[in-house]
Amino acid sequence: MKQFISRSCAMISMLLAGIVLSGSIPAASAQSSLNGYWDLRTPNPSGDGTVLHTYFHLQESSNTVVGQLIRWYHTVPVGGTLDHGTIHFVTQPPATAPGWEHRSIVFEGIFSDNKLTLDMHAGDRVTHGVATQVTEEATQPPKPLPLPALHDVPDNGLARTPPMGWNSWNKFANKIDDAAVRAMADAMVSSGMSKVGYVYINIDDTWELGRDAKGNIVANKKFPDMKALADYVHSKGLKIGIYSSPGPKTCAYYEGSFGHVQQDAATYAAWGIDYLKYDLCTDLDVYKDDAPTLQAIYQEMGDALQSIHRPIVYSLCEYGRANVWTGWGEKSGGNLWRTTGDIEDRWESMDKIGFSQIKIASYVKPGHWNDPDMLEIGNGGMTADEYRTHMSLWSMLAAPLIAGNDLRTMTDETKSILMNTEVIAIDQDLHFRPVTEVSHDGNIEVLLRPLSDGSVAVGLFNRGAETTTANLKRSMLPSAFSNGTLHMRDLWRHADLAMGGDVYTASVPKHGVVMLRISAQ
Ligand code: GLA
Repeated sequence: MKQFISRSCAMISMLLAGIVLSGSIPAASAQSSLNGYWDLRTPNPSGDGTVLHTYFHLQESSNTVVGQLIRWYHTVPVGGTLDHGTIHFVTQPPATAPGWEHRSIVFEGIFSDNKLTLDMHAGDRVTHGVATQVTEEATQPPKPLPLPALHDVPDNGLARTPPMGWNSWNKFANKIDDAAVRAMADAMVSSGMSKVGYVYINIDDTWELGRDAKGNIVANKKFPDMKALADYVHSKGLKIGIYSSPGPKTCAYYEGSFGHVQQDAATYAAWGIDYLKYDLCTDLDVYKDDAPTLQAIYQEMGDALQSIHRPIVYSLCEYGRANVWTGWGEKSGGNLWRTTGDIEDRWESMDKIGFSQIKIASYVKPGHWNDPDMLEIGNGGMTADEYRTHMSLWSMLAAPLIAGNDLRTMTDETKSILMNTEVIAIDQDLHFRPVTEVSHDGNIEVLLRPLSDGSVAVGLFNRGAETTTANLKRSMLPSAFSNGTLHMRDLWRHADLAMGGDVYTASVPKHGVVMLRISAQ
């Protein structure tokens, strides 16, 4: 099941969210054999000129059609009918299938004179394509290429504090284009985000078209001139990031860097790229899924990025496989590495991901950060209290702060969360001691992180669904805080408080947080 974690990306949910059947199919005649492997080519839904390949292995018998749909080298059974050239079949996923495989996709069309044309009904979208017969090999992952011998990639000196910026995926998925990226750069400056530390404007998946005759990666029509776009972002005083996969295909099934690692690194440098998110995706189908193999895969790009003499932050996206934080992420040259599957814009997802990170918080250090995925703040699926928890928790963890919302249309509340400089200061504190849980009482979790000036950041988190009273006891604090009046700053209320006794009591709203910075007088 390992492969499926990375397959739950938002784009696929969007594609396959339901079924709409429409139109009538004219009858046809003179069919020949449907038996064999087929490649259905349909336009990618974002209208970027790229093609989605869906493969089938079909067998006909009397009026029935059975077989498999093969996508990303994974299979789902299909079954249906073939009646005088009119074909209709549906994916039949097992009830337990994860990811896109558990949703039904309907295909209907014409099979005549050995020509197969199909409408694919996926989600609320219908796309039309022509299928051609292919060999079985075309439906299989490519043979592995040799991987380099392991060595430690030297520290590139970047990302001394957790990277801060914006990424297109959470809000835009496959709808991202040149104009939107420029607009995000404009908004990052005009909103004031750049002044409080956000600097990277990162393009995620679906910018790719394919390769030119020399094997150079080429952007699709949504991105007519990457170099000009990078120049524009740089002209705003910002930096620009891009996305790829070591696999033959990315997670949205666009062109990956398989077999072109060094060449792609050189292209990114020529374009003026400053940050690369490198997403495992289909490489999981080519290579083994163990720490040495993953290290070699990521080391190959880590070495390539260092060879092109341009500082490029290296962001590993491998969903926390093979305990990346324990060492191989850093050895492969990574500045940050994903520690979990994809975040979603809802409390359960953010809560589960965020609080699962405390036990591995001790593995981070300057230049090498755990990445529990991008922020969902401002995307609408959580309450303001939940988003404050999101920002507070990521800051206590010293996690990258990569916004994932539309920066052009932020409410004042969203701005106040993303641009709370007192909370950002916790995230960006010169890191020397990790966050720990100092108390867990019912739904109240108290997290504490020592800061470089001798103060401590304390989060009183309420993971429950009712407003609850939280107690911060002096005994939960380090020994330097044992006596005297403590100065406390409430980082969301922007208020100064004092703690003279042994307990500070606060009311914490459902899924909310009271975030304090405490210093001994
Ligand atoms: C994976 C990653 C996401 C995003 C998508 C793009 O799911 O984890 O962050 O990059 O791929 O396809």
